[in-house]
Amino acid sequence: MDASLIGYDHHDEPSQSRQLLLRISESWNTRAKVRREALDLTFEPARDDFLETLLPFHQHPLYQALSECDRQRILSCGWLIYNDKTVAIETAIVTPSCNDALEGRIPGLEGGLMRKLVCETLVDEAYHLLLVENASRITRHYRGLGDIRIPTFNLVRFMEEAKAGCSEGWQRTLVQLATSVVSEIFVSDYLHQLSDCHTIQTLNRATVAAHRHDELAHSKVFTGLAETFYPALDRKQQAFFAEVLPKPIEWFADMELDIWDDVLAQLGIVQGRTIVADCRPMNANAVRRVDYSGVVNLGRNIGVFDTMNGRDSFGLLGIAA
Ligand SMILES: [Fe+2]
Ligand SMILES: [Fe+2]
Repeated sequence: MDASLIGYDHHDEPSQSRQLLLRISESWNTRAKVRREALDLTFEPARDDFLETLLPFHQHPLYQALSECDRQRILSCGWLIYNDKTVAIETAIVTPSCNDALEGRIPGLEGGLMRKLVCETLVDEAYHLLLVENASRITRHYRGLGDIRIPTFNLVRFMEEAKAGCSEGWQRTLVQLATSVVSEIFVSDYLHQLSDCHTIQTLNRATVAAHRHDELAHSKVFTGLAETFYPALDRKQQAFFAEVLPKPIEWFADMELDIWDDVLAQLGIVQGRTIVADCRPMNANAVRRVDYSGVVNLGRNIGVFDTMNGRDSFGLLGIAA
């Protein structure tokens, strides 16, 4: 027997989602970017660090009237913020859920295959952290942005506030897990915004493309994990998870304008406060700017829309089954 298959739960009924998870895990050795060649870290000073259209205020006349030098510094900070959001997803959201699974706090994920998938995900996320830290360090060095500090993301803050409002430990575990599932479904789309962009630094595009390569598998992994753990929850836990699942859609879609407010002030952009304040009304419709079909499909497949909690909670975001 192939040594990598020892300890799988062969007696289990091979469901479609389990077959997919098995294939994803079996191909990890040849697929995962951590197993492949390292990236070339050459910096190209004449190229933009980031795509201007991804700045939430790129159409604001006060931004467009800034000097070329200020706009370039803002673009570089856009890249640093973009990177830090992926770091936050990896360190503050996904890794703690993986640890919850390995420590037996998530029903249904106790088997050998599930544990192996979680371990592979943890290795991938640790490698992404290194990729992103390398790219950000190089940007900070060459652009003289070593002192820029990026505050906590609303994505993380909202999740932590929801956890703080829970009375039971299992509820906090499920809030974290719902945020992980939604983030892992969304992150490949988030990375796709830059992974094919050939006008920016080659290093930056290659960093994002390498990350996205792994995240395309992670979105399937987390969908499959959800299809595995949800039926193993008791009714009370299922109702709670159904209610929580759509909330991270809004948290992920948040435009993170507080971070921009802070960073523009650090850059000494005097018009920054006005620019950000004028963009705040756009944040009210943030959910409309993300493709949440993957989360809705998952909710439909596992039966979240069969619960009143699930229907009501998705309904509050204007999302029908
Ligand atoms: Fe990642
Ligand atoms: Fe991931």
